[in-house]
Formats: sequence, structure tokens, C-alpha cells
Amino acid sequence: MAARERVPRIPAVSAFAPGRVELLGNHTDYQEGLVLGAAIDRGLTIRGTSREDGVASMRSSLMGEFAVSLAGVQPQTANRWSNYVLGVVAELISAGISIRGFSAEISGNLPARSGLSSSAALEVATALFLLKLYHRELPPMELAKLCQRAEHRFAGVKSGLLDPVMSVFGRSGHAIFFDTRTEEVRIVPFPNDLSLIIAESGIERELSDGKYNARREETFAAARALGVNALRDVSFADLERRNDIEPILRRRALHIVGENERVRRAVVLLEQGKAAEFGELMNASHESSRKLFENSTTALDLLVDIAREIPGVLGTRLTGAGFGGATISLCQRSRTDAAVQQLRSGYEKQTGIAPSVFVCEIADGAA
Ligand code: GLA
Repeated sequence: MAARERVPRIPAVSAFAPGRVELLGNHTDYQEGLVLGAAIDRGLTIRGTSREDGVASMRSSLMGEFAVSLAGVQPQTANRWSNYVLGVVAELISAGISIRGFSAEISGNLPARSGLSSSAALEVATALFLLKLYHRELPPMELAKLCQRAEHRFAGVKSGLLDPVMSVFGRSGHAIFFDTRTEEVRIVPFPNDLSLIIAESGIERELSDGKYNARREETFAAARALGVNALRDVSFADLERRNDIEPILRRRALHIVGENERVRRAVVLLEQGKAAEFGELMNASHESSRKLFENSTTALDLLVDIAREIPGVLGTRLTGAGFGGATISLCQRSRTDAAVQQLRSGYEKQTGIAPSVFVCEIADGAA
């Protein structure tokens, strides 16, 4: 009897990257500022195999599928989510890794466009998947920067390093302090008796890329008006003195200066276990978004206003870029279940929209 033909098996590899929450430090990361965030227990997994025909193909049950030739790969206008993947591929190719093609599938439990950075999770997971597939490695900060470049060049969003850094460096049970100027990454223990509640407004972040980039430009205009390269070098006292600059630029600068200050204080408060004071900083951050940076929305404000009345909630704010997306509330763990119910029903009563409200745990990053 003839021996059964052996079909060569191409081994599948997989990589996971989590989403993130921004605890404080809103829009500071492209002004050489400070951020405090964490990786969360929701993310994206990419699993697949290599192919040799120069085609990248990917499938997602939520977003659809694409198959694109890698020869001279450019940003796509159809299937725009593919740009997060293809941007990473293009960056890895420029880093000298010869990628000859792959077929892969995305799965996960991270909602897109909610402010939890599914884009960074997709980029980091893609990068790790391809590095594994081609038996290569990159230092964690290089990996984060590669993902940022991919987003700039292929998705057209001039984001900072907050999202990929949290997704890569996250540590279970810890917040991550990140100084975007010195690139210091420090883990800060997060009290176990506190929980984080995410509430999605149910309104997608429309035109978010354009609004994000426009706000970013305003902050650079503010820096120029103040004679510095980055708002990191501006203090409240400087802003007091310089009341000659355009009011809108002054408001944008005040937000960033305030956020840097709040991150500094928050790290100390977390280390001292002062949860209520930490929550107050989150509230102040949201007020600053609402009034100074104007990146909140009616829906986010409503979620924040409802959450602040709920027993056990210590603080609440929008998380991420703003202009839609989600809020994050700091809650005493023992009162979390009731708070989730109250937030859900309070918002539904006022808007008729049932929001998605869930608890996230701080988790390990991808690296
Ligand atoms: C988005 C960007 C980040 C950061 C936040 C706002 O999540 O991707 O780089 O700027 O907005 O803090």
C-alpha cells in the first residue's frame, strides 16, 4: 500500500495585544507631556500563517476582510481599518524585515471606535504576529514607535505614544506612568479595592481623525505663541503672564498644563492609596476637557454627570481622544455592580439609548 502523501503543514502563529484606558493626561502625549494609563483585559488576537505570493489578507468577523498586494503597499481608501495593519507591514518592511505575505484572522472583545484604542491594539498585535511569523524581535519602545508611525502614515491620525505604550508595557494591577519626553515608563500599583467602569456613549466618534489632528495643531500654535517647542515647558505662571495670546490657544494650553500637573499629583496619590483625591483629579480632568479643550460631547458629559451622583463612584472623565467614545469611572470595588446598573439605567432613561457599560480589569501588556 502506497504511503499516505504528507501535506506540509504551515504552522499558525498568534499574537494578542490589549486595549488601554487613559486614566489622566489627556492630549499631553504629543506635547512631550505626562500620561497615566493602563492596559485592560480586552484586546485583539491575530492568528494566521505566512504565504509566499506577496499578498496580505486578513479577516475580521466585525470589520470584513481584505487582500492586498504588498508590492509598493499604500494606504487604502476602501476598508480603512486595513490601514492599521498595512501601515505596520510597511513599517516592518522599511525596518528591513522582508514580509512575503500572510493570511490571518482577527478576533477579540475590544469595541472599535470607543476610545479604548482598538487601533493601537490592532497595530501592536499585527506587529507581534509578523515578528513571530518571521522570527524577529524589536525592543518594546521601538515596537510602540513603529505602531505610532504606522498610524501617522497609513491612518492619517497624528496620535502620540500613549496608546501603543500602554498596550505594550501594561502590567496587571498597575497603572503605567509614561513621560513622553524622557520615555520613562514606571509602574504604579493600582489599589485592588478600586474598579474601573467603562461606559460607551453609543455615539461613534465621527470625524474624529480630523478633529483630533485639528486640536493637535491648535496646541502647537499655542506652543509657538508661547515661544516654546512643546507645552511641556509651560507652567500655570507662564499662562498667567501671557494673557495676550489668543483665548482659544490659551484654553488649549491650560488643559495640557493642567493635565501634566494632574498626572504628577495622581502618581503620588496612588502611591499613598488616596483614592478619593485621585477621583477628584479625574473629575477636574473632565471639566478641563469640557471647558478648555472642548473635546467632550453632550453624551459624554451626560455619562459623567450621571456617574458622579452614583454612590461609590470617586471620579469620572472621558478617556482617550474625546469627540465621542467612552467615559471611565473610578469606583469602590464593593459598589461596582450597583454602579454599573445605575449608570446604564440613568443614561437610558434620559436618552432612550442603552449604553454599553462594563467593568475592565487592568491587565498585562502585549510585550
Ligand atoms: C488618542 C491618541 C493618543 C492620545 C489620546 C488623548 O487616544 O491616540 O495618542 O493623544 O487620544 O490623550
